[in-house]
Amino acid sequence: MPTPELLTAELTLTGRITTASNATFLGSIGDLAVVYKPIAGESPLWDFPEGTLAHREVAAYLVSQVLGWDVVPRTWLRDGPLGEGMVQLWQEQDPAQNPVDLVAADRVPETGWKDVLRGRDENGQIVSLIHEDSPALRRMAVFDVVVNNADRKGDHILAMADGHRHGVDHGLTFHCDHKLRTVLWGWQGDALTAEEKDGINRVSEGLQGELGRKLADLLSTEEIASLAARCAELRLAGRFPGPSGDMPAVPWPLF
Ligand SMILES: Nc1ncnc2c1ncn2[C@@H]1O[C@H](COP(=O)(O)OP(=O)(O)OP(=O)(O)O)[C@@H](O)[C@H]1O
Ligand SMILES: [Mg+2]
Repeated sequence: MPTPELLTAELTLTGRITTASNATFLGSIGDLAVVYKPIAGESPLWDFPEGTLAHREVAAYLVSQVLGWDVVPRTWLRDGPLGEGMVQLWQEQDPAQNPVDLVAADRVPETGWKDVLRGRDENGQIVSLIHEDSPALRRMAVFDVVVNNADRKGDHILAMADGHRHGVDHGLTFHCDHKLRTVLWGWQGDALTAEEKDGINRVSEGLQGELGRKLADLLSTEEIASLAARCAELRLAGRFPGPSGDMPAVPWPLF
């Protein structure tokens, strides 16, 4: 639970993230910098029920907490200057680190990176979409499968100076249909580690108890059942899935 101050201390708007398709603001609660997305500013989508994105962001945070890998920065629902919305702690990115990148196809580093997609740039040159091969990013990829993330763009991965990576923008999650759209395809078919399996097991168990009770306020019964089924499927397979083939496997734009 957020502390009473996080829920009730005044939330002041300090700026707007202008690239955002939804109304996304920067704000502060005392000394804390936060992102604030009011439900009233959510753009309608054809495939997700209206007015539910903020709830999905909080649900994604709760699942991240149970996985135990600190993927999603602290996220909660509260009132704000533009009504109820989701609030998330701001995490300062290290601009010198790019966990996901586009490079000339003959410049893909030999080690430490996964080459996930080839295409041509505006000059006709062949380029590769690459992402780092790090435990933090792998765990984020597992998280994305669990929450069925339909929007893991490069810019939704925040590089922290100490090497940690946070994932943000989880409004398009928990749909009952397979919607995994991500740039993190580098581990498809690879066996899950014991630590990754333990995390998935914690979610399965949590759904029988506290996690399940909290999610019931945020997601539909069917969406929670689908989450449980994805966890079970992933544990049974013991491997990272590949693209489903029914839909684009990567979000657009990629960043
Ligand atoms: N908690 C955070 N800490 C630091 N930076 C953040 C955080 N949340 C979002 N950002 C930055 O702000 C950008 C826009 O946020 P986000 O993607 O969540 O908003 P959005 O409304 O869904 O935008 P878009 O439609 O452009 O994807 C992110 O790509 C990221 O760079
Ligand atoms: Mg975004």
